[in-house]
Amino acid sequence: MNFRSVAAALAASVVLPFSMAQATDLEVTHWWTSGGEAAAVAELAKAFDATGNHWVDGAIAGSGGTARPIMISRITGGDPMGATQFNHGRQAEELVQAGLMRDLTDIAEKEGWKDFIRPAGLLDSCTLDGKIYCVPVNIHSQQWLWLSNAAFEKAGIPVPKNWDEYVAAAPKLEAAGIIPLAVGQQPWQTTLAFQVILVALAGPDAYQKVFGDKDEDFAGGADMAKVFKAAVDARGMSKGSNVQNWNDATTMVITGKAAGQIMGDWAQGEFQVAGQVAGKDYTCLPGLGVNEVIQTGGDAFYFPKLTDPAKTEAQGVLASTMLSPATQVAFNLKKGSLPVRGDVDLNAANDCMKKGLDILAKGKIIPAPDQLMSADSLTQVNDLLVEFFNTPAITAEDLQKRFAAIVASAD
Ligand code: GAL
Repeated sequence: MNFRSVAAALAASVVLPFSMAQATDLEVTHWWTSGGEAAAVAELAKAFDATGNHWVDGAIAGSGGTARPIMISRITGGDPMGATQFNHGRQAEELVQAGLMRDLTDIAEKEGWKDFIRPAGLLDSCTLDGKIYCVPVNIHSQQWLWLSNAAFEKAGIPVPKNWDEYVAAAPKLEAAGIIPLAVGQQPWQTTLAFQVILVALAGPDAYQKVFGDKDEDFAGGADMAKVFKAAVDARGMSKGSNVQNWNDATTMVITGKAAGQIMGDWAQGEFQVAGQVAGKDYTCLPGLGVNEVIQTGGDAFYFPKLTDPAKTEAQGVLASTMLSPATQVAFNLKKGSLPVRGDVDLNAANDCMKKGLDILAKGKIIPAPDQLMSADSLTQVNDLLVEFFNTPAITAEDLQKRFAAIVASAD
């Protein structure tokens, strides 16, 4: 090292918050490619680049369902990235068990993650045999119905306040040439719609019995029948919504082509990018206006074990950066999710985000399916629901029977 570079390194280590001695490029993979998602992930990249390191963006287009197998095969195939998104829960369980993921416990203890990450279940989902393997970056809930105020105005009916009013509005919407419910055709989206209906109509205890306790009798029983009937309503209301991506379905709501979408709170990112205002241009009904609870799943970053010490060092810097109060606010405001820290200033939150924060403060929370059921079992549920949404001949009774059979063998 010549004098000039020594001086530069020294100056950098004084000015910048993290050691610059080992600044390096780090590839980060994720499936955030919609307008709102890209705006949010840019905040993470900006914060990491400010440490002198460099975020090499490894966006994988499609969806989590497309991205996860690619991420997993790179890690198991000996070509690991520096960091990668998964939903917090059980998606990375086997990678951790195989010893391929970096243990972050020392950083977590030094920075006191346990003291400020809320709810505690998020960190529990990152923990295996007492060791912490991931950084939760947000709380994303799926329990939302997004409605286009303009679509209801065009149909001459008030914006519904709950699921039953929405179903009742469908014929008038159709008569006005509006698709009542936009549903993207990727498997996870039909499952999302189904389980949101389940929590809303049968309640959080029923959801726990089915996805948590894997109680097949309950899943196949009388208390659950209304959920499968509502799934038939949803299928009918989504006729003609021939899009794949969730954000294309959101665009149908933004443009008033469709009246509503059941989707996670990440949809807010799209409304924001389109310049729409919560309460004015669109309405959000948490828990479909019936059972106001939110799932506290979301996204977490995992750090595959690497041999290069500079990259290993940079992984630690990225982990800390993602949890810093400033990054948590900037990222989550764009993402539509809630920060994992309760000690940050969220004055800038919009109406829908405020509803989410209020539900969280009341403790009305449930875990996400990924936190309860294995990835394999959830794939079976996905397959069944895609078939159901595309096959009008499958009745509510058939669906319930087949769903209960999956629950019986689920882990
Ligand atoms: C989820 C993820 C969200 C959102 C969504 C759609 O799995 O948790 O952050 O991006 O996929 O891409």
